Amino acid sequence: MASPGSSDLVIVANRLPVDRIENPDGSPGWRTSPGGLVSALEPVLRANDGTWIGWPGGTESDLEPFEADGMDLVPMAMSAREIEEFYEGFSNATLWPLYHDVVEKPLFHREWFDTYVEVNQRFAERAAEVAAEGATVWVHDYQLQLVPSMLRELRPDLRIGFYLHIPFPPAELFQQLPWRRQLLEGLLGADLVGFQLSGAAQNFVRLVRQRVGHKTHRDLVYLPDGRTVRAAAFPISIDFNLYADLAQTEGVAARAEEIREAVGNPSKVFLGVDRLDYTKGIYARLRAFGELIADGHLDVEDAVFVQVATPSREQVEQYRILRDDIERLVGRINGDLGKIGRPAIHYLHASYPREEMAALFRAADIMVVTPLRDGMNLVAKEYVACCHDDLGALVLSEFAGAAEELRQAWLINPYDINGMKSALLDAYRTDEREASRRMKAMRKTVRQHDVAAWADSFLAELAAVRPSHGKSVRP
Ligand code: G6P
Repeated sequence: MASPGSSDLVIVANRLPVDRIENPDGSPGWRTSPGGLVSALEPVLRANDGTWIGWPGGTESDLEPFEADGMDLVPMAMSAREIEEFYEGFSNATLWPLYHDVVEKPLFHREWFDTYVEVNQRFAERAAEVAAEGATVWVHDYQLQLVPSMLRELRPDLRIGFYLHIPFPPAELFQQLPWRRQLLEGLLGADLVGFQLSGAAQNFVRLVRQRVGHKTHRDLVYLPDGRTVRAAAFPISIDFNLYADLAQTEGVAARAEEIREAVGNPSKVFLGVDRLDYTKGIYARLRAFGELIADGHLDVEDAVFVQVATPSREQVEQYRILRDDIERLVGRINGDLGKIGRPAIHYLHASYPREEMAALFRAADIMVVTPLRDGMNLVAKEYVACCHDDLGALVLSEFAGAAEELRQAWLINPYDINGMKSALLDAYRTDEREASRRMKAMRKTVRQHDVAAWADSFLAELAAVRPSHGKSVRP
């Protein structure tokens, strides 16, 4: 057994909550990392005074643990080859498309998996060094599915939780993976395996029964060594009050006004905010909006679309192709349908600080979230939290995890362009009473099920699955 460190709660995720960047004057600086995982876990780490192990982006190798913004961070180095084979390759060109309904073709390369094993092993070793005797280690997401069993091997005293932020695919798709058994066994190193939705947890248990041959009963897996692993759903959320309060500050209110002014004060602003990812359904959504203008249902004097596309995984080929496709489409729609000073779509390839996002959410009348498949989609919840006056409409894909909770949204099938067009139009034409009835109900849901409640319930369940082991972590 490796000798223990001093942290009672260790979060292990591929990314640190901050990315290393170079300031304009050449000095090193930090910037919040992209994606839902980081925005959800940051408040959890702060509340629990834990340590976060992850990659700060880039290839720098002489990295020491540091504190940023009051958080204890342990950076993991990654070589250029590991970035290519573990991160861009196996994580984002094999697992990501496979777990998202194969909306792009997953690539299977044996060298990529070998590097995935190596990097997972290094993360497990680092976690084993940092965790105190009997500590809780919470491992996150598809990049690190082998870490639970590797860590258990090194430190059987630990209480280990795993949470998957993205969908877990149906058995029919998962079975394509040449390394399916290794991944299932990797996850079974955890005491509790958490998913966004209960269907995902059921997929997992069924696969374990069929492929690994362990006995299962409902959400429990019985291992030959006497250990029990539980698989259950814990739908993730956001820090509701943080967004609700931010949206009501004077600065954000003034900036929201400025944004509406800048886009020509139309009667309705549509908004899309996504990482530039092929799972997000950006292309079909913009096409639907363009057709509504072309058909004469909407007028560019009256309705504009603001699309923020956050740069993501730019070295992966499918992401480059997607960017070109979307930019060509935006150019064509604006060229065909815009007027001087009145583009139909304001397209921004950029990432913005939280205040600017809150201002955009406040400025938007209709939030359009149309992924082809999404684990949860926290942007939908952030929008709801920012609608402090209960106005604002959410158009939401049935294939986002969030659709299970946000039933009062205008739910759409993102593959059905006509259906999406009628929902956009319906949300555009809705009266304030209807919008506010729907928004009130959604705000209540997100307020009650915020990220603190999510973390509390996961950590409480983790302690319950393994009561005789480990210290309790105050959720
Ligand atoms: C999603 C994933 C995260 C990932 C994030 C950003 O939210 O679930 O694990 O960190 O996207 O993607 P990136 O590849 O930039 O880390």
